[in-house]
Amino acid sequence: MPISKVDICCGLNWGDEAKGKLVAHLVKNNHYDYVCRWAGGNNAGHTIYVDGKKYKTHLIPSGIFYNVKSIIGHDCVVNPESFMGELDYLREHGFDTSLIKISPKAHIVTESHINEDKEKYKDQGTTSNGIAPCYKDKYGRKGLRAENVDSLKDYLWNEVLDGNVLCEGAQGFWLDINYGNYPYVTSSTTLPYGACCLGFPPQKINRIYGASKIYDTRSGTDPLFPESLLKDPELMSIVKTGGEIGTTTGRIRKTNWLNLDKLIIASQISGVTDIIISKIDVLEKVGLYKLYHKNNLICFKNLKEMQTYISNTISGTCTFVSSITYSGQVEGI
Ligand code: IMP
Ligand code: MG
Repeated sequence: MPISKVDICCGLNWGDEAKGKLVAHLVKNNHYDYVCRWAGGNNAGHTIYVDGKKYKTHLIPSGIFYNVKSIIGHDCVVNPESFMGELDYLREHGFDTSLIKISPKAHIVTESHINEDKEKYKDQGTTSNGIAPCYKDKYGRKGLRAENVDSLKDYLWNEVLDGNVLCEGAQGFWLDINYGNYPYVTSSTTLPYGACCLGFPPQKINRIYGASKIYDTRSGTDPLFPESLLKDPELMSIVKTGGEIGTTTGRIRKTNWLNLDKLIIASQISGVTDIIISKIDVLEKVGLYKLYHKNNLICFKNLKEMQTYISNTISGTCTFVSSITYSGQVEGI
């Protein structure tokens, strides 16, 4: 069977945009033969609710929660120990782990990558999972691939996609190796074009879903998100109400009002067709509605006014966007 269509889900901010929830929604409401991760490793953290129960994964694509073949793609990096840990966790909770496969070309994160990350990349506030050193070895052509690791041989993928494919992004647009605030970025391609490395022509892309939050958060070090944000009482009330604590690192996420200019650039370059803006209930609970646009901080009287402003501005600037959806924090969109 040839590839029928490909949908892509990507993050439009700095990660943590509820992509996991979006992927779950898409898998529940569409037929997909595969859900694939195209880049990154266990630096990501995906939270999924299945029948009201909360689950977390870091590397394994969220399709697994809905019985769909789940592929860890060529440009991903795999820590075998943490992969096995996730398999055990999923098995214990009754999910069919035989659906999980790894590309033989995926690179392996070793103990020495993790040590190097902790020693040399501390100032960049990485997740300490060995991501940068692993990609450094990959691109320096000295890396170890999944096909070279005995313990992974039962999980290797035959590298052929067919039917309907959903590509699950990790991290977000502004953490991309090219587009982010280098060197405060991750080491992979987080933009939708990166998904094409999974093995389909770009012509097969059907919808590109972009996930954003209604306010900005940053879980690692980034001069664009100074420590002073943690002293702002209004922003801190968003942190508390929104539970803005990193899934992977347990760190408080530095939080700021939505930068609409950045969201527009991310949407335009990513070519998103549908935007899903989440956590609107957090602003409602806090009762504050603000965003930055053209370097001005704009305050709105209520959520409706803010949503109308966002939707109108995006519609006027992002040609490919045909729907903008707003959602709360809980399950469902
Ligand atoms: P690394 O990917 O562990 O090297 O981390 C590089 C930067 O990306 C750090 O600022 C991390 O906090 C950030 N980062 C990596 N993965 C994620 C993610 O899934 N969500 C949010 N931030 C992330
Ligand atoms: Mg995440």
